[in-house]
Amino acid sequence: LAVGLTLEGIRFRLRPVVADDASFILRLRNDPQNARFLPPLTGTLEDQRNWIQKQHQLVGDYYFVVEDLRTGDPVGLTGLYAHAPDSDGGVIEWGRFVVADKSLAAPETSLLSHRYAFEILKVREVFGYSIEQNEKVIGFHRSCGLDDRGLGSTTYKIGDQVHRSLCFALKRDQWPEFEAKLTRTAQQISQILGRKQ
Ligand SMILES: CC(C)(COP(=O)(O)OP(=O)(O)OC[C@H]1O[C@@H](n2cnc3c(N)ncnc32)[C@H](O)[C@@H]1OP(=O)(O)O)[C@@H](O)C(=O)NCCC(=O)NCCS
Repeated sequence: LAVGLTLEGIRFRLRPVVADDASFILRLRNDPQNARFLPPLTGTLEDQRNWIQKQHQLVGDYYFVVEDLRTGDPVGLTGLYAHAPDSDGGVIEWGRFVVADKSLAAPETSLLSHRYAFEILKVREVFGYSIEQNEKVIGFHRSCGLDDRGLGSTTYKIGDQVHRSLCFALKRDQWPEFEAKLTRTAQQISQILGRKQ
């Protein structure tokens, strides 16, 4: 079974998705601002609940709600999947990454997703794809320090348009530096959010 562990950070945590998250997932993914560069979720609430039940049976597939530790509110989603284990931990894909606007959860979500992959699953590499026109996420990954591997082999069909993708990745030996940098960012964000309340 692929249901993962809960991983707490500084202000946010990752906790495995459950069927009752279906309405939050549909709402967040189908928000027009978020849906532009994500494969659309067209089904009903019941379809989404069924998808989550099926996801729980998948091997090497981990799907999380990002929760605000202070308020308990769900603010985002992230996933690790298609784990291809080998004698050295294998590689895993990171995606299903979306956070609510103004949540400031993106840096810590990236940090916790990579921590889960490198420290819990002990993979040797994490990789992912972003649609070429998704400048926001591409700028975000670059600023966090992911390696830009150029055009990926994966394409995405959204509406009637087929989009090319860029591949981003992080190797195990790059994780400590990435972790240190994003931990500093997560601390700064935690202070900013703390001051606002
Ligand atoms: C991709 C996505 C998760 C990125 O999240 P984001 O919030 O847009 O990321 P940002 O680069 O704006 O960074 C998050 C915030 O942290 C802030 N931040 C970053 N480093 C900081 C630091 N050191 N100190 C303080 N704040 C910092 C940024 O200023 C930003 O705040 P703002 O939103 O008020 O400008 C989000 O845009 C999203 O969900 N998009 C839709 C779905 C999608 O395209 N997913 C990707 C599929 S591959």
